[in-house]
Amino acid sequence: MTDPLRPNADIDPDDIPSNASTVPALGDIIATRFSRRNMIRGTLGTAAIAAMTGNSLLTVLGSPAQAGETKFSFAEIEHGVDETHHVAAGYDADILIRWGDPVLPDAPGFEPRNQTPEGQARQFGYNNDFVGFIPLPRGSRSATRGLLCVNHEYTSHRVMFPSGFNDDTRRFEIEMAAHGGSILEVARGSDGRWSVDGGSTYARRISATTPMRLSGPAAGHARMKTSADPSGARVLGTVNNCAGGITPWGTYLMAEENFNHYFIGSLKGHPEQRNYARYGLPSGRYGWGRVDPRWDIDKEPNEPNRFGWIVEVDALDPTSVPVKRTALGRFKHEGAETIVNGDGRVVIYSGDDQRYDYLYRFVSRDRVDKDDRQANLTLLDNGTLSVAKFDPDGSLAWLDLVWGEGPLTPSNGFSSQADVLIETRRAADMLGATPLDRPEDVQPNPATGKVYLNLTNNHKRTADNTDRVNRREKNIWGQIVELSPPDGDHAARAFQWDILVQCGDPRRPETRAIWHPDTSENGWFSCPDNAAVDAEGRLWIATDQGGNWSLASGTADGLWAVATSGPGRGTGRMFYRVPVGAELCGPCFTPDGETLFLAVQHPGTDGTKQFEGFGRRSTFEDPATRWPDFEDGIPPRPSIVAVTKKGGGRIGG
Ligand code: FEO
Ligand code: CA
Ligand code: CA
Ligand code: CA
Repeated sequence: MTDPLRPNADIDPDDIPSNASTVPALGDIIATRFSRRNMIRGTLGTAAIAAMTGNSLLTVLGSPAQAGETKFSFAEIEHGVDETHHVAAGYDADILIRWGDPVLPDAPGFEPRNQTPEGQARQFGYNNDFVGFIPLPRGSRSATRGLLCVNHEYTSHRVMFPSGFNDDTRRFEIEMAAHGGSILEVARGSDGRWSVDGGSTYARRISATTPMRLSGPAAGHARMKTSADPSGARVLGTVNNCAGGITPWGTYLMAEENFNHYFIGSLKGHPEQRNYARYGLPSGRYGWGRVDPRWDIDKEPNEPNRFGWIVEVDALDPTSVPVKRTALGRFKHEGAETIVNGDGRVVIYSGDDQRYDYLYRFVSRDRVDKDDRQANLTLLDNGTLSVAKFDPDGSLAWLDLVWGEGPLTPSNGFSSQADVLIETRRAADMLGATPLDRPEDVQPNPATGKVYLNLTNNHKRTADNTDRVNRREKNIWGQIVELSPPDGDHAARAFQWDILVQCGDPRRPETRAIWHPDTSENGWFSCPDNAAVDAEGRLWIATDQGGNWSLASGTADGLWAVATSGPGRGTGRMFYRVPVGAELCGPCFTPDGETLFLAVQHPGTDGTKQFEGFGRRSTFEDPATRWPDFEDGIPPRPSIVAVTKKGGGRIGG
């Protein structure tokens, strides 16, 4: 989901700044640190300043902590915006599957003027976001066959439906079917090309109406019960699945992000008023509540409490019931990236993507059992959820969200751990967590033990809360924060943090981005969103500038290889570029690093008014691009792209 600056957006995820916390934002803290560093700026050369922007003070002063240097061997692609996608020279970028292509064996073909809920429920959904790869056979590290798990975040109705399509009931049913996820079996042929196995028994569609279970401390609580579900433990569907994760035991985590948009109704006199206001509920972007009362909080007051969770899907068992794991908290989860800690416990990082919201961490109570997959399937029901507090001295404290401790007591309206989890944001407010500039993907790097936090932007940062961060007022560029667990212990109570990249145009006085040391490369980018690390532990960043790409960078979104060590640390090199109006999601490498799957989301939608030669809002009949088909009458189609190197070899060299 993209930035509110985009004028053509179907959905503005952030139009309700719901966190009124007065705790200093990370941007303030960053400014404090940079102010300290600026004191020595005058005595250092350009290269040293570049290093200082990313590395610790010690490193700058001559004791390099990281001897290695991140190396990539491709030449950066040209920046710009046009109707198609571009990949670095020497690589192929093939369309693997598009919105409307068959997923289940009995799916109909794509007929955009004759869409049906029944067909969409069997076809690839809309607006692909997260992409995860589970090797087949199970437990192997195969890089030529596996399950591709893909989220479908939201729908863009103006380019999805013909203008005369006015049947709300039918349209909403199609939209519900186009949400959720797809599980595809994919294989790489002898010619090196990837394809979807149309007859696979693993093939599955998950949607806004798929039956699911709730588990963990909030399951069955009175606040989770509805007229359709007096148990409080069963729910239909998942929505706004943005990023996600793949667990070490081969399950697929789908993050529920902007769930507030799906509910209509009134907060007046509502028993959940305080709770719902903190999540921007109801938003009413979708009219589903007009035809299905469970999306209307006046008719089903507790239904929104059953959204905003992480959904775990056993992709290897097509008959399994997806489970919403309430122990991981309820907020606008961007993603849920997993790492196994040295002690065997599983750790999951998750950002809450709203301006001034927080970074969370879940640490399981029990250890991953490599010999007992069944036991692992309940690991995410018990553990400790914590929220991050960043301190100006470069340390980070994890504050536990545990009922009965600190302010999380009945006197503050928390009568159980279920209350703490249902109102995760308010509990985190009370603990004094650090409000951030929209936390998107959080990517642990198993090769180095570091964790990368993408703070995408916060253009509503105002002068009165940026007095100590003047460079980041109206922050349309974002920044990447590097987290360092002590001795690689992801369960530790305290980490260190540093800035890897202050994104944005270095020519602007308000940014602190850095130039690439080799000036033939551009080096800088804006609005980091999704992230991946490749087989060599190198960092790749996908961007989402929303509708403000011309203001932020002047180029379409895309994928950048980002150096995390050596003289070029913190610089990027553009590898792939999306067509006009799209954002890039889901970078995902096969275990051998030789294939990169990408998700091109909402082509033709964002910021197209600014596209030279187009200059107006896209519609089904008149879109800014018809990528990837480029056929008259066929609208743009969100698609998965498989990137491979010509002649074989690792992506990025
Ligand atoms: Fe759905 Fe936070 O992007
Ligand atoms: Ca985004
Ligand atoms: Ca995102
Ligand atoms: Ca990721």
